Amino acid sequence: MNILLLGSGGRECALATSLAKSPRCDKLFIAPGNGGTAAIGTNVELDILDGNAVAAFAKEQDCGLVVIGPEAPLVAGVANAVRDAGIDCFGPNAAGARIEGSKDFSKQIMTKYDLPTAKYGTFSDSDSALRYIAEQGAPIVVKADGLAAGKGVTVALTQAEAEEAVVECFDGRFGAAGATVVIEEMMTGPECSMLAFTDGKTVYPMAESQDHKRAYEGDEGPNTGGMGAYSPVPIVTPEEHDAMVDVMKRAVAGMAAEGIDYRGCLYGGFMLTEEGPKLLEFNCRFGDPETQVVLPRLATDLVDVMVATAEGKLDQIELEWRDEWAVTVVLASGGYPGSYKKGLPISGIEDAAALDGVTVYHAGTKLEDGVFYTNGGRVLDVTALGNSFEAARDLAYKACSLISWDGMFMRHDIGARALRGREAWN
Ligand code: AMP
Ligand code: GLY
Repeated sequence: MNILLLGSGGRECALATSLAKSPRCDKLFIAPGNGGTAAIGTNVELDILDGNAVAAFAKEQDCGLVVIGPEAPLVAGVANAVRDAGIDCFGPNAAGARIEGSKDFSKQIMTKYDLPTAKYGTFSDSDSALRYIAEQGAPIVVKADGLAAGKGVTVALTQAEAEEAVVECFDGRFGAAGATVVIEEMMTGPECSMLAFTDGKTVYPMAESQDHKRAYEGDEGPNTGGMGAYSPVPIVTPEEHDAMVDVMKRAVAGMAAEGIDYRGCLYGGFMLTEEGPKLLEFNCRFGDPETQVVLPRLATDLVDVMVATAEGKLDQIELEWRDEWAVTVVLASGGYPGSYKKGLPISGIEDAAALDGVTVYHAGTKLEDGVFYTNGGRVLDVTALGNSFEAARDLAYKACSLISWDGMFMRHDIGARALRGREAWN
């Protein structure tokens, strides 16, 4: 079958790699894709926020499945248009994507279905928001309601910081996304992501993974899209794992009770607090870079899983996972997440990818005349599998040492806290 995949990051390169491995995959189109996906399938220019254009392309190319990577097209209802055109789609309709598209809606679902999360209030004017902050005191967390490209959350340690975040939101810093503000209690503990395949009835959780959001070693510096990840997460206890699985299942059941037929990946972002795992957020899609450490461990054919998800037949297949560890190290452009240069030639990708157990996923590259050039802040996601966390990590860093371009940087401590145990978070 022909498949159309939407997106252009490392997550989509990982999805494309797994889809292309399937004997069921004939032509794979990626819109808009990147340098890495150009080497796996055919990159196409398409307005991925335009549902009609996406559905028309998929029909024209006789695609049997459309896979939607990022949240923006999901929130914009692109999955609705694809399904209306009679094509199987992996990714929820707009009603389901609200779980990420509106933090207020997400908190309402959590509250109504008794899913553990931080206490909160929702405000649409600054006076009442500021009054709530004065009542609750700091530390406190201020969140723009809508999609803000990962920048809409302020963990405020002082009341002044929280007040400033509220004022900025209502002053339009995040546009319409900040017209409503969610303010919640600050939680503490290690963070952990759980992704799950679901067709709205059956829920198959994947192994836990952990992202590294700060730019520099020791979790210092500005927030980024993610500088590395690993899976599984050894500090998670069996009780915590079961609690998170239970939350994911109850979330899908709750959405079904609201009339939402959720088919795709549901991402639970958790904090492992002393009172058990609590939800930070839901996302309506695979995580990036979590996907890069979770998908390579899936032994079942991804096309089978995605078609079953899209058709509501997930209960008819079983998922098998490789009993291995995965570590991804992100190679970034000097200056990221601030300004950085693009168009620099990259060397060593083939040498790194030739190592047994290593896959180099592209996040921000361009392929021109057989040469890969940098084309973004996060450029490559170097992923290694191994029989232990240490083996996977050492292999990933060995592969990274073979790659270079002018100004390249990485964090050298991906997963360091996994080894130091629970107390490393205190
Ligand atoms: P979110 O987009 O809601 O996941 O928030 C982004 C990041 O902000 C999370 O990954 C956490 O590191 C932090 N964060 C969000 N909500 C809270 C909270 N209630 N308590 C502490 N940290 C939080
Ligand atoms: N790694 C965080 C996210 O995908 O939202």
